[in-house]
Amino acid sequence: MPHIQIQDFKEVSFPFSHEGIDFDFIASNIKYPDEKLICATSEDKTFLLQVKQGETNWLLKSDKVTRVSPNFHIKNAINAYADKAGLEVLFSNLAQKHTQHREKDSALKHINFFEKSFPDAKEIWVEVGFGSGVHLIHQAQQNPDVLHIGIEIHKASIEQVLKQIAILGLDNVMLVDFDARLFLEFVPSNLVGRIFVHFPVPWDKKPHRRVISHPFISESIRALKKGGTLELRSDSENYFSYSLQTFLELNQSDFQVRKNQDIGIVSKYESRWRKMEKNIYDITLTNNEDSEAIKSDYDFSLSDKCGVDFTELNTQTIRFENGFIHFERVYSIENDGFLVRLSMGSFDKPEHLFILVKDGKTSYFPHQPIASRTNYNSHLKLKELLHG
Ligand SMILES: C[S@@+](CC[C@H](N)C(=O)[O-])C[C@H]1O[C@@H](n2cnc3c(N)ncnc32)[C@H](O)[C@@H]1O
Repeated sequence: MPHIQIQDFKEVSFPFSHEGIDFDFIASNIKYPDEKLICATSEDKTFLLQVKQGETNWLLKSDKVTRVSPNFHIKNAINAYADKAGLEVLFSNLAQKHTQHREKDSALKHINFFEKSFPDAKEIWVEVGFGSGVHLIHQAQQNPDVLHIGIEIHKASIEQVLKQIAILGLDNVMLVDFDARLFLEFVPSNLVGRIFVHFPVPWDKKPHRRVISHPFISESIRALKKGGTLELRSDSENYFSYSLQTFLELNQSDFQVRKNQDIGIVSKYESRWRKMEKNIYDITLTNNEDSEAIKSDYDFSLSDKCGVDFTELNTQTIRFENGFIHFERVYSIENDGFLVRLSMGSFDKPEHLFILVKDGKTSYFPHQPIASRTNYNSHLKLKELLHG
């Protein structure tokens, strides 16, 4: 995580621009004023930096919810703020000002790119949690006419695979930094040829975080074209049994189970398990149905007038059928409004975002929730709460 340790934090006057970064505002946690968020924009990416007081010094780092890739945007913003405010840096894990060629990150697409208009390729394959990217890159090289969409939540893996894509000059791969369970909800119906879920985290102690679940399988079937496949590969007997059970619980399904199948490429994880002589299990589900088109034109706008006292909502949770809204932290922007961090949607795959109330306007920050049915239901509840 890009960060610097500093002797003292110094606030400067906002807004300002420095070293190519626009700084819009600073907001302070209403409960713990030593925690602050700074809004920064680098090129077309808007995100927050977090300031926190530790026991002996201060930390200036990337905020987790709004963190962007590639992380040179964040590094440059931290360096720019430190320079402008004249911060005394005690430790830094940032390189000097970093620039990256546009073409290097062109494979990385923002979630909005897919929301606005899903890529229109003849054949699309999706890989969930590509990790080191060995399988994704192999498939992209072997199948140049297929568009390969890799979904991953681990930033370091994304950075690493982006570099490989640039070095190999691959133009048939798109990466997206997002929770695959949410991403699938807005993939158009009957489109995808193959969905790979290879060596998903078993989450034995937190099963609600597992990728394989009834909603995930249903969304996969909807997104797959007729004859398309959902391909799970796992070394975990526990996860395999759980998945098998989950597939069997579906009303109707057509799937095959194989053990120790050679798929022609060995990922980093697989080689580790092979050395330990563990068994590898595959479950391949074939979709045999045509699904209805999804609705994607949800209106996520919020009215400008906001009739709630955010200080009272701090740490509150509102539950309703199939979902919730949790107001995690409230930050005040001096004389000018609030920034509210919240989680919303369904319990097993919540979306984390902010609401910004500033200059008499209320909006999601830095972007709207993704256009899924679950998010839209939560949005309607939130709207009711904010605007009455
Ligand atoms: C055990 S690794 C396997 C990586 C790779 N598939 C392989 O075979 O080497 C699981 C990967 O899934 C990613 N992951 C976990 N949950 C995810 C989710 N909900 N959406 C996207 N990626 C996820 C993790 O960050 C991790 O990189």
